[in-house]
Amino acid sequence: MIKLVKARDYKDMSRKAANIISAQVILKPDSVLGLATGSTPIGTYQTLQHWCEKGDLDFFHVKTVNLDEYVGLDGKHDQSYRYFMNQNLFNHVNIVPANTHVPDGSNLDAEAECERYHEVIESMGGIDLQLLGIGNNGHIGFNEPCEEFPVNTHKVELTRSTIEANSRLFDSIDDVPRYAYTMGIGEIMGAKTILILASGKAKAPIIKELLEGPVTPHVPASILKMHSNVILIADEDARSLLTIE
Ligand code: GLP
Repeated sequence: MIKLVKARDYKDMSRKAANIISAQVILKPDSVLGLATGSTPIGTYQTLQHWCEKGDLDFFHVKTVNLDEYVGLDGKHDQSYRYFMNQNLFNHVNIVPANTHVPDGSNLDAEAECERYHEVIESMGGIDLQLLGIGNNGHIGFNEPCEEFPVNTHKVELTRSTIEANSRLFDSIDDVPRYAYTMGIGEIMGAKTILILASGKAKAPIIKELLEGPVTPHVPASILKMHSNVILIADEDARSLLTIE
């Protein structure tokens, strides 16, 4: 079941999300946080930074594990997800860098990298709270629409729609990597709490599909309805096509 939390706008969504993450870290200072990239969580990360600077939040014992990374980009590339996380969160809070994990896009041995990353997740004893955005096609992490839900970390070929959506951040569409490593649906579903965020009109069709449509690997996020503890924070624009209240 998905618990829908209604936010007014992006700022309100970000503050509500930061409050939930903050409560998790206060209740369990050595929490394992599953983190996400994309435009959606940036405001949440800024709010967390702010609270950490004020001394209201302490990341010293927190461990993090990110959802995904582009294959072929190393952590110094400004479009890599490792770079994104350093810039948007890790460099600004008191987290121990060795406690932050992102798949290694520079390792082109997919089998070895996916196995290593799965071990990282296992060795932490699973994820306490997993933060998610949602792609326009319903992807979570980089789990693209497919015929079967993939269980563990794996290499995926990105769909045309994802490449187009993410090309806004690259100099040209040809620079967008074609493959990514992503946590699998099984690993994501293993998190004790899942927090999914959606903001803006562009997300309205997929939020409607997620909440009102069936569970199907063609809409990977739809599996979240089978998890017992999922919170969706959606702003007014993202909720604008819902027929349910
Ligand atoms: C990317 C990421 C996802 C993210 C999605 C939506 O493809 N791999 O984790 O949720 O984009 O991004 P945005 O938040 O920018 O809409």
